[in-house]
Amino acid sequence: GPVVGIIPAAGRGVRLGESLPKAFVELDGRTMLDRAVEAMLASAVVDRVVVVVPPELVASVAATAPARVCVVAGGAERTDSVRAGLAAAEDAAYVLVHDAARALTPPRLFARIVVELRGGRSAVIPVLPVADTVKSVDRDGRVTGTPDRSVLRAVQTPQGFEAGLLRRANAGAGDATDDAGLVERLGEGVYTVPGEPLAFKITTPLDLVLARAVLAAGAP
Ligand code: CTP
Ligand code: MG
Repeated sequence: GPVVGIIPAAGRGVRLGESLPKAFVELDGRTMLDRAVEAMLASAVVDRVVVVVPPELVASVAATAPARVCVVAGGAERTDSVRAGLAAAEDAAYVLVHDAARALTPPRLFARIVVELRGGRSAVIPVLPVADTVKSVDRDGRVTGTPDRSVLRAVQTPQGFEAGLLRRANAGAGDATDDAGLVERLGEGVYTVPGEPLAFKITTPLDLVLARAVLAAGAP
């Protein structure tokens, strides 16, 4: 069955602080959303793409969408937007959920995820080692622990799933900070592959400076 990419792009970008919703902010003349869609299609491992945008932008995005891309309205939380994308991916055998905000993700990362899905893994996510030491704290800001950094990973997208598994994971009212978190709660194994530094999420104004500098330096 088909591999369907779902691109949540319906956030407001509060932390970035631009006037436009974040996915519609331009990097060197092209929006983050356009860059994410093009990288996904360029990977050649995705059969079609469902883009999830703020409701008021559905018509204008659909009017210029390339072939194999459909556009649906997102919701208040990212999980609502992913659920809307899943509803528009009825025929999918596998789904790749990928943040528009990871606009510089290299096409090879999509391929790396799909290889593992085709090899029999049901849930596959890209990860990188954690550079900073991470601490847990209580409500007063007092440190309660220092997890061993060698077993920690920072998580990126695209996250790949057997479509039925991600549907089951999203069937409840649950919430998680990533899609794999919901799958983990079902007790299903989630496997990791090496991520890509360029798949970093553009969240803050500093991230935008980095993304534009990367493009100015002529990165692929
Ligand atoms: N997203 C979405 N629907 C939402 C919230 C987020 O589709 N209701 C998407 C964003 O557009 C983004 C991705 O999920 O591509 C990751 O979310 P994040 O980086 O948090 O983006 P925003 O929610 O837009 O930013 P902020 O949290 O700063 O407002
Ligand atoms: Mg957000």
